[in-house]
Amino acid sequence: MIQPVILSGGSGTRLWPLSREQMPKQFLRLTSPQSLLQQTLRRLVGLTDKAPMLMGHQSHRFLMAEQLREMNQAATLVLEPEGRNTAPAIACAALLARQAGDDPLLLVLPADHEIGDVGAFQHSVALATPLAEAGYLVTFGVVPTQPETGYGYIACGAPLDGGHHLAAFIEKPDAERAAKLVASGDYLWNSGMFLLRASSYLEQLERLQPTMLAACVEAVSSAHRDLDFLRLGEEAFCRCPADSIDYAVMEHCERAAVVPLRAQWSDIGSFDALWATVVPDEAGNAAKGDTWLTDTQDSLVIAEHRLVATLGVQNLIVVETSDSVLIAHREQAQQVKQLVAALSLAG
Ligand code: GDD
Ligand code: MG
Repeated sequence: MIQPVILSGGSGTRLWPLSREQMPKQFLRLTSPQSLLQQTLRRLVGLTDKAPMLMGHQSHRFLMAEQLREMNQAATLVLEPEGRNTAPAIACAALLARQAGDDPLLLVLPADHEIGDVGAFQHSVALATPLAEAGYLVTFGVVPTQPETGYGYIACGAPLDGGHHLAAFIEKPDAERAAKLVASGDYLWNSGMFLLRASSYLEQLERLQPTMLAACVEAVSSAHRDLDFLRLGEEAFCRCPADSIDYAVMEHCERAAVVPLRAQWSDIGSFDALWATVVPDEAGNAAKGDTWLTDTQDSLVIAEHRLVATLGVQNLIVVETSDSVLIAHREQAQQVKQLVAALSLAG
């Protein structure tokens, strides 16, 4: 039986001012009336009957609970007192499953991705299942289209039933290396989803990150119930080293595999990526909300609270919200992250 583990603790900044610390990307209704988190849950229908574990930051607990309630969806809500990145979150999910006496396959899914072809996604999970049962940590690889520096890169090794051995894993290479990896044609993007047996992941963590594992064991054993939530032990979790599964485990893992994912996957990591999920009009524009575009080309215009009118502009991203407005050149969509960091420093 597959146990879904949904990672919902991130605070996407590249979609500011739509996404905020208190309203990260996974809770936004960006591409449909359902939020990305709700779409992630919907994608599991027909794949498993197990209620998912939702791993998130304690300050988002009511948002998580409300979005589940809207869908009438049962889940175990596990709260982290502070973000420690994905490796400890997955460790705690694995330990909670082991504590319940099970050793399920954990289907680890980021809460903030878009997948156009759910059938193809479920097919990839089916391909990954026997490999995860055999003890491999299985990744889902996407054919790259450009040299992205925000992704992990996977080299496929010898064929395995349904996939390949993972020959190398390179997390977030710099621009020069990313260009080489893509040009070589030998690498896939890591989609950030994993299928792994709880005990296989814990074994790798014991070998590679014993301090992290020890802190997570304590955080789980000192966890306590609070209303509908399970709060991980604060003292232990806060002293856990922070790292992602990609850097902490996948780059050094001895028994990993990759299966192909051809499911119109996007991590909607920037306004450019959000743009790519909609069909633009004849002038190349995508607009949402109360907008009026005249002599405007290749622009993305989002109006949440007021009328936004544009005249005689090209290649712009314009995002209006109740308290902030972003106007950016399309080519600099990725730099919104740095802008937000600078704004936070400016207080
Ligand atoms: N519970 C929890 N706690 N979840 C977290 C935390 C945390 O501290 N930090 C991040 N997450 C969640 C995010 O909400 C997201 O759903 C997922 O974990 C991945 O984290 P990101 O911060 O978005 O990672 P990334 O996009 O930089 O990189 C990952 O995804 C890429 C594909 O989108 C890596 O796996 C890359 O290798 C991969 O290519
Ligand atoms: Mg991401």
